[in-house]
Amino acid sequence: MIRKSGGRCFIIFLLFSHEFVMTDRYAVIGNPIAHSKSPLIHAAFARQSGQDMSYEAILAPLDGFAETVGKFRAAGGKGLNVTVPFKVEAWQLASRLTERARLAQAVNTLKFEADDAILGDNTDGAGLVRDIVHNQDHPLQGKRILLMGAGGAARGVLLPLLEQQPAALFVVNRTAAKALELQHPFAAHGHVEAGGYADLAERQFDVVINATSSGLSDQLPPLPPGVFATGALAYEMMYGRDTPFMVFARQQGAARIADGLGMLVEQAAEAFLLWRGVRPQTAPVIGQLRA
Ligand code: ATR
Repeated sequence: MIRKSGGRCFIIFLLFSHEFVMTDRYAVIGNPIAHSKSPLIHAAFARQSGQDMSYEAILAPLDGFAETVGKFRAAGGKGLNVTVPFKVEAWQLASRLTERARLAQAVNTLKFEADDAILGDNTDGAGLVRDIVHNQDHPLQGKRILLMGAGGAARGVLLPLLEQQPAALFVVNRTAAKALELQHPFAAHGHVEAGGYADLAERQFDVVINATSSGLSDQLPPLPPGVFATGALAYEMMYGRDTPFMVFARQQGAARIADGLGMLVEQAAEAFLLWRGVRPQTAPVIGQLRA
């Protein structure tokens, strides 16, 4: 029989032990969010690496991003993935930024630090590079890269692409002025050429990356024929179906065509690494999503 005081100790012990073994909470936050594959991806990473964590999807009101983040954090949340349309707000909210997030002016990963700081990172570019170099086995060093688009998606991947030391990196955009604006901020990290599609005549590239939103409206950016060099990789950041860019690349004889599913899983793996200090295996998860 437990004496009264012993029972009290037992309850206090239970409370403390619960504190110690409490599952770490993470989530993806966006609007809309129901379609997100991130909960599935992170659940697979956690299972595979034996990490005690939960991962949910949170719908934030369009005018309530910071408030929703604050509530999640106050409830013990450890970190968040951030998706459309809050990546710029997350960049503003972060009290500390990685260099790649600072230059991207967009954040897709938040980590709540022990000293109360909110670390903002952008893992999109690292995810893209890892998918191209590692999964597609297509080294970028010394290659000629064409990056289409000058919006958030393009900006988010520029620094990691430059870090691969390509022979050339050309940012092309329908509105050429927006591409030209990207040259200065990245100048310290490498040479960025920029211009409109008309500037591409007679030029060839080993890797052509579509970071435009053209696929959403089933449109093809005005790429000139002959832009793919022998052995070129055409990389579409969208996934789920063949876009007009992927069809064009096939017609134009690109040696390899990839969609953005690998990038999606790799950017998640980079976030997982930042939070948990463990790099999960991505191949089985990419395979699972394709199936
Ligand atoms: P995201 O955050 O996805 O980058 P964004 O900031 O709205 O979205 O940028 C969309 C990009 O896709 C822009 O570079 C846009 O070109 P403009 O700056 O000229 O608008 C590009 N884009 C969208 N539709 C396109 C199309 N049909 N052809 C070529 N570029 C297109």
